[in-house]
Formats: sequence, structure tokens, C-alpha cells
Amino acid sequence: MSLDFQQFRNQLLSTADVLDVVRERVELRRNGTRWVGRCPFHNEKTASFGVTPAMQIFKCFGCGAGGNAIDFVMRYDDMTFWEACKMLAERYGIPLPARSPDNDPKTKTRAGIYEAHEIAQRLYRAALQSPIGAQAREYLQRRGVTPEIAEEFGLGLSDRGGLGLTRKLQQEGFTPDQLLQTGLVGQREGGGGFYDRFRGRLMFPIQNEQGKVIGYGGRALGDDDQPKYLNSPETELYRKSFVLYNLHRARKPMHEFGHAILVEGYMDVIGLAGGGVGESVASCGTALTDSQVRMIQRHTDNIIVNFDSDAAGVAAAERSIQILLREGIHIRVLELPGNVDPDEFIQESGAEAYRQLLARAPRYFHWMRDRLRQRCDMRSAEGRAEAVREILPFIRVLPDKFERAAVAAELAHDLSIDKALLLEQVKATHGASAPPARPARPRVQLPPNERVLLHHLLHSPEARQEGLPRLAELLERPGSERISSHAILAPLLDLGADFAYERLEERLSDRDKSLLASLIFADESSKVSESGDDNAVAQVLGCLDRLEQDLDRAAMDDLKVRIRSAEESGKIENALALSEELQRLARRDARRRSRPSD
Ligand code: GTP
Ligand code: MN
Repeated sequence: MSLDFQQFRNQLLSTADVLDVVRERVELRRNGTRWVGRCPFHNEKTASFGVTPAMQIFKCFGCGAGGNAIDFVMRYDDMTFWEACKMLAERYGIPLPARSPDNDPKTKTRAGIYEAHEIAQRLYRAALQSPIGAQAREYLQRRGVTPEIAEEFGLGLSDRGGLGLTRKLQQEGFTPDQLLQTGLVGQREGGGGFYDRFRGRLMFPIQNEQGKVIGYGGRALGDDDQPKYLNSPETELYRKSFVLYNLHRARKPMHEFGHAILVEGYMDVIGLAGGGVGESVASCGTALTDSQVRMIQRHTDNIIVNFDSDAAGVAAAERSIQILLREGIHIRVLELPGNVDPDEFIQESGAEAYRQLLARAPRYFHWMRDRLRQRCDMRSAEGRAEAVREILPFIRVLPDKFERAAVAAELAHDLSIDKALLLEQVKATHGASAPPARPARPRVQLPPNERVLLHHLLHSPEARQEGLPRLAELLERPGSERISSHAILAPLLDLGADFAYERLEERLSDRDKSLLASLIFADESSKVSESGDDNAVAQVLGCLDRLEQDLDRAAMDDLKVRIRSAEESGKIENALALSEELQRLARRDARRRSRPSD
């Protein structure tokens, strides 16, 4: 890294406060010197994620994610290092270094794909407004999509000719390889020419959580055009299992209404939004994935599944529901009357009626119970057995054993199934598909004295200034490597005035890294906080005294053993010299004990 860049990075990290960056994306509450919340990188109910502004780091105990503001953005927004730097620099008004920050190959590729989609967006949207867009505009009108909504969702039209976009990209200097990387261009068999992947289709841009277009769903305009939807292939930017259609727009309404609505199609999302229901998202024609659930869960724990009532819709709903249950989400199911999809319903009956149904949507297990009552003959033993078979897979994926038991008990009651029998079955099958156990929180294994010392040395510049010279003396002493936190104290001393959390961290083994992190996120109830941060300097000096004392005592014990063995083997000279040393240490220990500060 050039000096220029190093300076830029330092400036960026000192300006882009990690707490600001994280809080823009994750809800945190203050807890003493740190901020805690639920980790956005794995599913959890408890808050094992924290930010320590003084250190400018975030850390999760559940999944181990941690780092500075740039690391956070890279992970949360799925960006390369350069992209994250650039984004933060723009956000905080820091000039980029002279050398272009696009110079790693992956960032370059991704930048090319972003650019191609910007070009495509301009082309597709212009086409929809132009004379060739007349038929598509009529189609939208027929389906109740106003020009404003079409504009908001960036809808467009790909031209029938099949060369417009490819030519445009070639003019802009895209090489054959780059064309193919965009997913927007195909190549004729046998290495012939290139052509537009999307031809004569209504184009639905698919955007990432920052709102950038990364792919398309293209809908056929004629009923006999097949397939009905053609989607972008996976590219360096578009990974289907990590994208939810409309998430970037739905985030705010999700927070406002306290839930997300999961629907099947692009048109459902757009129809709902057009009617004033903005909190819906769709997975783009694929089964819901864990990552998509996590993306919703960053914003809300309540999901209402509103799939079509046809067989395909119900099957898709059941697959998604299993995943949602496993991740501990509160699910409700909205089944619309008359076998219509959300788009049709809101066009016919309006947002008011839709919101009323939403509010009344039953919890998943109640909905399931009612379905089973309709489907299975609960008066016969076979019917009940079938109901149990159907419901078991859904109960057993629940991550919380108390909830599993409660749901089983309730369903047993409602369906007149033997409660003990159902519970037994749930237990018997739970292990098979149990969610993986979470890693345990690392235990802090340091003596309290060293925890207090490290706490202040990490947090207080004054404590470092006053304490480090004394620490230097201490670590010079023979036997100092026996101090439990020696592996952290030594590099800390070494850094001196250049101290920064990440500099320290990069010099530690994995074990010491997690020890350090757990120190920083030590519970508020621990000794460290009880002693408070006032008087950090005095406390540090006190801790160093105690460490010195421990070292002296260990050395004295050691000397006693050596003196005895010298005496026993008749090396009197040697024994005397050692005794003198012992007395020197004993005097020092006595002096220390009589000091008023102790
Ligand atoms: P309309 O039929 O215009 O109301 O669209 P819709 O968005 O409601 O679609 P539908 O309910 O038929 O399908 C749900 C989703 O599945 C769509 O939004 C697409 O993401 C996907 N999908 C539907 N048909 C196809 C297809 O033929 N191919 C692929 N790849 N995906 C499809
Ligand atoms: Mn539809």
C-alpha cells in the first residue's frame, strides 16, 4: 500500500465513526462504554454483537465477525475493500487518494457490471417512454401500474431487435469478456457474435440493498412468449440467494409497520407498493434462502407470508416457512379470499382492505391447524396420524425447545391428538434436523488484576502514557513471561504511542485475539466497570504494583528452592549469594506493603 493510500485509510477510519456506520444499519442500545445489539451476520435472539467506539471496532461473540468500519461495510453491504473505502469516502467527504481505488481485479469487474447496468437502465427506460414502448405502456396501464410507480421501480423495455444494448456497451468500450460478465449479453454458439439477453421484455431492475441495479427480471409481454420471466444469470454482482427484490425500498416501511410481507412475484411487490403497502419483498423466483431470511431479520422479526393460494403458491410457502421457522422468525400467514394474488387483491379491493386482512392474519401454526382440520379426517386414527406426519417437520425445526413443547402441546389439544405421543415424536425427530449449536461465548481467563490493567491500558491514553514506562520495567524482569496476559502486554508496550486496537490485534494469536475481544466486551457487571474509569492512571499503577509483587513472590519462592538445594549439595558460597538476593526481594516486598496507597 502506498503512503498516499495509508494516509487516506487512516483519515477515513478516524472520520467514519464505526458506531455511526453500524447504527445506520443495525439497531444498537448503549451499555456503558459500548453499544450492543443483534448481530446482522448470523441469526440470533440474544445480543452478542457490540461496538466499542473508543476502540473503533465491532465484534460478535456468536459468529466471530469483527473489525473496523471498513470491515463492517464490506460484510454488511457485500463490497470489496476498495468499494467499501470509496463508499465511506463519498459518504464522509474524504478525498480519494490520487491512485484509483479500483485497481484490484474483482473491484474492476464489479465496477464494469455496475456500469453496464446503469447503461442498460438508461436504454430500457428510454425505450419504455419512446414510441416503441406504446404496447408495454398499455400493458402496464391495464395492470394498474401508474407511470409514477413504473418510474419509482425503474421499469423499462428491452428492444426486440436484440442488439441495442450489446452495441451500446461495445461503443462504451466493453471487451467481449466484459460483455459476457454482465449477464446482459449472450454469445452465439460457435463463438459467433454477441446479442442482448433480454429482447422485447418488460424489464424489472433488481437492486441490491444500496439501491444499485445488479440484475433484471424480464417479463414477456405476449401470453405465448416463453418463458414468462427471464432472469439475469448469476454474476460477480448478482448472487440470487443474497438478494431480495425491493428490500432497499421496503426497509423503512418495515420499520414503520413492524413487519415484512413476503410475496412471490415482482408484480405483487409493485402492485402492493402502488396501493400504498410498501413493506413487501420477494425472492426472485427462487426458494427462500437462509441469507435472505437474515437480510429481512436485520429489520424485523415478524414476517407475513402472502403467497398465491394455488398449489404452487402453497408449496412455495411451505418451503419458505420451514426456513423461517428454523431461523426463529414469527410467522403469520395471509391467505387472500378468492384465490387471488396480492397484486390482484389490492387492485380490486384496495389497501385498506388488505391492511385489515394483514392485521388478522393468523399465526403460522394456527393457519396450519385449520388447514389440517380441513384436509384430514380428525375423527379417524389414520386422519390424526396423517396430521401428525404433516405438522412434525414444522415443529421440529423450531430452534427453541420450550417453544417446540408449547406448540406441540397446543396443537395436540386443538387437533385432539395425544399430547404425550406428539411430544415424544417431536423429541425423537428433533435431533435429525436440529439447527447447529452456536459457538459458546469465550470465557475470560485472566486474573481480575490483569483485566483491570488491560482495560485501562486499552481505553485510556493517560493510563498508557503513565503506565507504559512502568510496564516496560516490569517486562524486563526475569520471569515476567509468566504473567498471564504477557502475550498482549508485550505488543501493547511495543506499539507505545502508536497504539490502535487493530494494530494490536494484528500482532496476536487467534486465542489472544478472542481474549482481547472478550476483555473489551466484558460484562458491565464485571469488576472492571465496578471500579469505574475514573482514576484510570492510579488504578493502572496499582495493578502494576500488584503484578510486580506477584513476580517478586514467585521469584522468592524460586530462590528458596534453589537456596535449599545449594545448601544440600554443599555449595555454601552459592547459597549465600542467593540468600542475599532473597533478602533484597523481601525488603522490597515489605516496603511495598507499607506503602499507603495499598
Ligand atoms: P404476473 O404473472 O405478471 O402477475 O407476475 P408475477 O410477478 O405475479 O409472477 P408469478 O406469480 O407468475 O411468479 C412469481 C415469480 O416467479 C415471478 O415474479 C418470477 O420471479 C418467477 N417466475 C415466474 N415465472 C417464471 C419463469 O417462467 N421463469 C423464471 N425463471 N421465473 C419465473
Ligand atoms: Mn401475479
